[in-house]
Amino acid sequence: MSSPTTSSPGTNPVIQFQNVRIGFEEGDILRGVSFRLEERETLVLLGETGVGKTLSLKLAAGLLRPSAGSVQVLGKEVSTMREKDLLDFRRHVGFVFQESALFDSMTVGDNVAYRLLEDRVADDQIEPRVREALRFVELEHTMDLVPSELSGGMRRRVSIARALINQPPIVLYDSPTAGLDPVTSQTIITLILRLRDVYGVTALLATQRLQDGFALANFRFDPATNRVLHSPSNGDTAGAKMAATRFLVLRDGGVYFEGGQAELAATKDDYLKRFLV
Ligand SMILES: Nc1ncnc2c1ncn2[C@@H]1O[C@H](COP(=O)(O)OP(=O)(O)O)[C@@H](O)[C@H]1O
Ligand SMILES: [Mg+2]
Repeated sequence: MSSPTTSSPGTNPVIQFQNVRIGFEEGDILRGVSFRLEERETLVLLGETGVGKTLSLKLAAGLLRPSAGSVQVLGKEVSTMREKDLLDFRRHVGFVFQESALFDSMTVGDNVAYRLLEDRVADDQIEPRVREALRFVELEHTMDLVPSELSGGMRRRVSIARALINQPPIVLYDSPTAGLDPVTSQTIITLILRLRDVYGVTALLATQRLQDGFALANFRFDPATNRVLHSPSNGDTAGAKMAATRFLVLRDGGVYFEGGQAELAATKDDYLKRFLV
C-alpha cells in the first residue's frame, strides 16, 4: 500500500486508487493520488476548484482512464477495462453530476428510467421502480413534468433518484449542494444520509462545503423512526463500522490530508484551516 490510510488493512476496498495520474495538454492535474474506501464508507473529497475532484470521480466511474496508476473498483481494474466491460461496470456505480445533467426534453420519469431502458428492463417493471426512486427523493408527483419546470434543488433530487434507480452499491456525488441555498442543501444531505443508511451505499463525495462532510460525519438516518439522529461516531473510523466518514484534501495534484473529522477540525495547518471557515 502506497497510500496513507486510516482504514483497516486486510479488508477488500470498494474503491482503490494507487498512484493515479491524469492530465491534459496544460500538464498533469493528478500526480500520484492514492486512497481507498471500504464498504459503506463515505470519503469526502475536498479541494479548491480545478484541483481534480470531478476528474477523480470520473476515473472511479470509468468515464476517464488514468495516464498512469491503478483504479480498482469492486475488485476490478477499471483503468484497463475494455469498453464493452465498462458499460456493464458502470451499472454498479451511480453518478450524481454537478449540474444534475438531466435530459431537458425528457420527462422526469423518463430521465429516472433511463438506465432501466438501457438495461432493457421489462416495461411493466419500469414504472413501479421509477415511482419508488422518485418517492425516495419525495418527488413522485413530478414524474410527468420536464426538468425546466423544477427548481435547482428538485433537479438535484431527480438526479439522485436517477443514480439510485438500479440500486448501485457505489454512488459518486459531484458537489451535490453547489449553488443551492442552505435549507435545500440540507435536504440533499439528508437524502445522501438516507441512501447510505438505508441502502448501505459506499460513497465518494466531492464538495467545496466542508459542512456537508461534517453533517455526514455527525448524523445518521434511522429507518425505524424515519428521522435524522445525531451520531458523532460516524466521523470516527475506529468506532463506526457501518458508516464511517473520512476526509481527503487534494492539493497540487496530490493527497494533502487524509483523516477523520476530529483530526481535520483540530488541525493546526494553515492551508487546511481555510476549509474550516
Ligand atoms: N477534458 C478536459 N480537457 C482539458 N482539461 C480538462 C478536462 N477535464 C478537466 N480538465 C481540467 O482539469 C482540471 C481539474 O478539473 P476538475 O476535476 O473538474 O476540478 P474540480 O472538480 O476539483 O474543480 C481543471 O483545470 C480542468 O480545466
Ligand atoms: Mg468539479
